[in-house]
Amino acid sequence: MEKTQQMLKEEVALAAVQALDDNALLGVGTGSTVDCFIDALAASGKRVRAAVASSNRSAERLSRHGIAVVELGQLDEPLSVYVDGADEIEPGLAMIKGGGAALTREKIVASASLGFICIVDESKLVDQLGAFPLPIEVIEMAIGPVSRALVVMGGRPVVRDGVITDNGHPVIDVHGLRIDDPLAWEDRLNALPGVVTNGVFARQKASLALVASQSGVRRLG
Ligand code: 5RP
Repeated sequence: MEKTQQMLKEEVALAAVQALDDNALLGVGTGSTVDCFIDALAASGKRVRAAVASSNRSAERLSRHGIAVVELGQLDEPLSVYVDGADEIEPGLAMIKGGGAALTREKIVASASLGFICIVDESKLVDQLGAFPLPIEVIEMAIGPVSRALVVMGGRPVVRDGVITDNGHPVIDVHGLRIDDPLAWEDRLNALPGVVTNGVFARQKASLALVASQSGVRRLG
């Protein structure tokens, strides 16, 4: 029987739970794959010291399962590991993230973690980033100038309809970029005044990717 995408998400979520050390101080991402991870973690009975969530959505799901959620500012040590999905991941383990509009907190929590386990089904694995429209969280008054700069860079910016992030900002999705050098693109986009966070995760790339396919879960990195 062909596994559905939902089955692949559940399979990779379970593999991530199995990869966790006991009593981890955990960073938790956002999205449908992470929802599966949180559910699998709760069902496993594995002990977690506490979790820092990258979104209100994940914080609520963790709390519903009785997993202790703390704020990053309450900690005086790095998180053991950050677990999150991605919209695209390339062989060097740089990613596009932000399809769920949680990119800023995701990048912050990832940067405060000793490792990053990316959990995806194989549809997210690409040779080069950019087919998925790149999310960029911006200060509202900068939408015009940032959009014009993105056009000069070769992109087609579209403000995401009806979406405001947990931080109160709009998101621009940029179509048509060919992100051949993720580190350079991440830095170039960060340099535009008014950009809060861009969805290229090259400085905070994954240290391990778990990729679910019809033939099982494979590890990259
Ligand atoms: C949210 C994200 C998610 O990790 C990304 O959108 C993948 O989500 P899903 O697991 O639902 O496919 O970056 O901002």
